Amino acid sequence: MNKKHTTSTFAQKILHWFDEHGRKNLPWQKNINAYRVWVSEIMLQQTQVATVIPYFERFMLHFPDVHALANTDIDEVLHLWTGLGYYARARNLHKTAIQISTELNGDFPPSVEALSALPGIGRSTAAAITSIAFEIPSAILDGNVKRVLTRHQRIEGWPGTTQTQKKLWQVAETLTPDNRSRDYTQAMMDLGATLCTRSKPQCERCPVQADCQALATDSQANFPNRKPKKALPTKHTHMLIVLNSEGQVYLEQRPSTGIWGGLYSFPEHTPASNDTLAEMIEGAPSILRQAIDNVANIIEIEQWSEFKHTFSHYHLMITPVIIRLNHSPFTVADNNQHTWYAPNAPSKLGLAAPVKKLLSKLA
Ligand code: ADE
Repeated sequence: MNKKHTTSTFAQKILHWFDEHGRKNLPWQKNINAYRVWVSEIMLQQTQVATVIPYFERFMLHFPDVHALANTDIDEVLHLWTGLGYYARARNLHKTAIQISTELNGDFPPSVEALSALPGIGRSTAAAITSIAFEIPSAILDGNVKRVLTRHQRIEGWPGTTQTQKKLWQVAETLTPDNRSRDYTQAMMDLGATLCTRSKPQCERCPVQADCQALATDSQANFPNRKPKKALPTKHTHMLIVLNSEGQVYLEQRPSTGIWGGLYSFPEHTPASNDTLAEMIEGAPSILRQAIDNVANIIEIEQWSEFKHTFSHYHLMITPVIIRLNHSPFTVADNNQHTWYAPNAPSKLGLAAPVKKLLSKLA
């Protein structure tokens, strides 16, 4: 597809939809000038249209132009901003007003580059101002537009990454038409805010549904891709599965706090790089060492392959070590903290998930 063709088709559909369904009576769409557009765009960052409207109107009554805003005290600005949130916006607004009023004779520079150099104005806000106030073709890319574009083109990658961001800007620029810049910008914002919503998008009413790649694959919910989860740390442990001569397994109750709190589990040993068996048993709880009594009582040791159990905050790599004894050390009687558990005739105990899995493998 060449640029012209892509541009005309997509933009034409968007503009046609805007003519029929776009928002055209918002307060900042009347008496349009750079000052009013700039104030509205700053107020609309992270804030709903319905919330902004009364604030915008009050603001314009108090500060009808950039000089009025520049000549007021910051406290006055903050007072009028009270309730809108993100107060750094108000401080930056005031700083920028002073700069424009004193250094630029009150004129907003009609370029994305110059506007983005001002406090509180990012590339997308600058482009909204140039397209809406000056009718200069400029691609915007706010949260709503990112959602529309990532879905329409099935753009993979979390938009927070430089790579995805770059790709999104390229697509946004390719699709932006050479004329009707103001309407196209407003149309893209409106489409994202009213139809291409985060959940339950109204695709059946969308003007670009025919070539939306997310809709075609029923994957709207996956776009934009979410922030990848941080890689979890991995810990290692050996679970000592001690079997007596009757085939019962030694279990101990875990402390009530921490992972598997209060559940029964095998004794664990966090191995150093090349622990010997004796060292491993040395690391086991004293009650278990008593049970084993003497390494000579061990008739067989078998190591099963490691498997993974994942908690919300780390992976645990578990190596089961099966230790078979030639006796049944009744000296370790059942009590509240330890028990000899028969995998074939299980008593009712709360068991940690991987323990359950290992016990059924033993049975
Ligand atoms: N969000 C950001 N800019 C907007 C605008 N001009 N109209 C509606 N919502 C917006």
